[in-house]
Amino acid sequence: MSLLLHPTTASAAQQRFAIGETDFLLDGKPLQIRCGEMHFARVPREYWKHRLQAIKAMGMNTVCAYLFWNYHEWSEGHYQWEDQRDAAEFCRQAQAEGLWVILRPGPYACAEWEMGGLPWWLLKHPGDAFLRSRDEAFVQPARRWLKEVGRVLGAMQVTQGGPILMVQVENEYGFLSDDKAYMQVMRQAVLDGGFDVPLFQCNPTGAVARTHIPELLTVANFGSDPAGGFKALAELQKGPQMCGEYYSGWFDTWGAPHRRGDNVRAIQDIDAMLNANGSFSLYMAHGGTSFGLWGGCDRPFRPDTTSYDYDAPIGEAGWVGDKFRTYRECLARHLEEGEVLPDPPARPPVMAIPEFSLDETAPVLANLPSRAIHARSPENIEQYDISRGLVAYRATLPAGPARRLEAANARDLAWVFVGGRLVGTLDTRYRRFGVDLPACPRDTVVEILLYTIARVNFGMEVHDRKGLQGPVTLRTARDETQELTGWEIRAIDFGADAELPPLRWQPRRSSGPAFWRGSFDATATADTFLDMSAWGQGIVWVNGRCLGRYWSIGPTQTMYLPGPWLRAGRNEVVVLDLTGPRANRIAGLTTPILDQLQPGRDLKRPLNTARPRLAGLAPVHEGRFASGPATQDVRFAAVAHGRQLCIEALDSFDGKPHAAIAELALLDGQGRPLNQAAWTIAYASSEEAHQEDGSALNAINGQAADYWHTAYSDAVRPLGPPRLIIDFGASADIAGLRYTPRQGPEGVTGRIRHYRIFVGDKLVEQN
Ligand code: GLA
Repeated sequence: MSLLLHPTTASAAQQRFAIGETDFLLDGKPLQIRCGEMHFARVPREYWKHRLQAIKAMGMNTVCAYLFWNYHEWSEGHYQWEDQRDAAEFCRQAQAEGLWVILRPGPYACAEWEMGGLPWWLLKHPGDAFLRSRDEAFVQPARRWLKEVGRVLGAMQVTQGGPILMVQVENEYGFLSDDKAYMQVMRQAVLDGGFDVPLFQCNPTGAVARTHIPELLTVANFGSDPAGGFKALAELQKGPQMCGEYYSGWFDTWGAPHRRGDNVRAIQDIDAMLNANGSFSLYMAHGGTSFGLWGGCDRPFRPDTTSYDYDAPIGEAGWVGDKFRTYRECLARHLEEGEVLPDPPARPPVMAIPEFSLDETAPVLANLPSRAIHARSPENIEQYDISRGLVAYRATLPAGPARRLEAANARDLAWVFVGGRLVGTLDTRYRRFGVDLPACPRDTVVEILLYTIARVNFGMEVHDRKGLQGPVTLRTARDETQELTGWEIRAIDFGADAELPPLRWQPRRSSGPAFWRGSFDATATADTFLDMSAWGQGIVWVNGRCLGRYWSIGPTQTMYLPGPWLRAGRNEVVVLDLTGPRANRIAGLTTPILDQLQPGRDLKRPLNTARPRLAGLAPVHEGRFASGPATQDVRFAAVAHGRQLCIEALDSFDGKPHAAIAELALLDGQGRPLNQAAWTIAYASSEEAHQEDGSALNAINGQAADYWHTAYSDAVRPLGPPRLIIDFGASADIAGLRYTPRQGPEGVTGRIRHYRIFVGDKLVEQN
């Protein structure tokens, strides 16, 4: 069969795309979709064409693109589609390169993007379960957004001569809920936006059945076991089989090892999908960079790195190498008759920048706006119409003995000063919301500088309200408490594009949180990678443009600075550093550093000396999991009550002394998962840290693709059975659990067979 598949080669009127019983049909003829994902918001507009050419040269015929609602409607009712946000132009460029487009407008995206693409102002509405539900407080603005998308992109559909073949409704909704009526509402909203091409939805393999409705084609997302994914689809519907997201690699979070994809396995899986007449979309073909403050946060609270390299075949700066060639060779075997692969575009030029220093500073606390909000007790910042940034809270501490200051919540990080002296930090990663204050012989000013990193982009936890949240109390050694009231709140709101506030510069160094300014001269404008490894934590701007957040704990140490954002001559660099640099100098490197952890550069971490205290306790449940990768719900005989839960693995299906858990959720009396926003890992018997990222947090982050794995590369044999203890932050009623085993083929290590569950208020003791 000979097919000419370029959107540019047929006249608009001939182009009609449909979902047949076994194939996608283009003008009545089968089309196998070989798609690569790229987010135009993560690639400088000047490079869109370059990256699209690389995707085409890899062997793709389609590009898949999310729209991030909050990127286009950061302030309510005010839509932005210019320059870097010009989605229609992106579609035109894709079409010009001979690529079809699959559009994923949300309203929710996920994608390691701030709040999964939802706008922060939705959080002014009270409640912890209304986002992505049929609550009008969500549905109305979502409908407005999808109408706006239709207004801007409707003309880009294949039915109107454009490249858009299909539109996705929502994103992996079965991972959150099984409310099919919600999917109908969102489908209708896309239709009301004026879309008339086929619509579809995606879900991880294990959840495809949960929100399937006959009006939408379902596709499965997975990073392994394509046969299992396609089988799940065949059981659900008649139609072409497609993997909506096949993972080429994975994203990174600050403080955790850099992740890599497995090339060899990936091309085996892609071969298998294409040989089975399936279609696929590679997530990511090109990940790019979460410039500005757009990076998201995994749950319970693990902010994503600014680099979204993803270990994708087209690297962060558009580079192609061995990995790209492996994919290209694989896809070259699956071209349509007559289809020819173009050569990949040349690598954009790269340059080094000799080290330069940043000698001027502007301390944050001396550069706050004069206008203050007055509050008896601080509320989340959304209530004050602050979107994100730096928020300073000031109150008067009455004279008194040494006390402990405790807030109800603090998101995300905060530095506490008493009389101008730093006394401690609040850190949402460890649910550390208190600090010890020294005795104050007289009334003293307490000032708390809070820094928001990113809103969680996954699960119920997207209801992620930021700021210092009261009541703030003072507790004496004798346990007397007093509420600290009368707060002045001042914010540097960075807004949508992280605009720098007016700053008063001083020609000297500064200690503590400060902006730093310097410049370098460039003779040429080429890509470079700013080395931030000697700095602490904060944000970088070049020529007023925000490159993103850095954090020298790693694994990313460099910031991608695209050549088109530089100018020949002087270039100004501003750095916000919250902890202070070790050296106030920066150099531009010719290669990125994506995999260097510096845990010693972190804020104070709690010492992990916890030991399980289970002796004499009766398990609330004992059981045997089913073999295989399917998610399983377990009901306890009686509802258990407590603040912590321990799962103890007694043996495993492959007989090795290991345990792995992809996800562990806990269920309430109605069988619904509990909100995990306040969860921490209280104890893990061990975690693999060398061969792969087997950290215990992977078991509660909502991602089925990664997992907790007991340590195996250390010579030391584990003592006793594998155990994981979760702390919920407060007591809860637990009626059961939802266990997702480590994904992958039969026989994969770590799938638990027999296990026991303990629930109590204190299942660990600190040594
Ligand atoms: C899911 C989501 C994507 C992305 C990936 C992880 O599958 O659909 O948006 O978050 O996980 O990178």
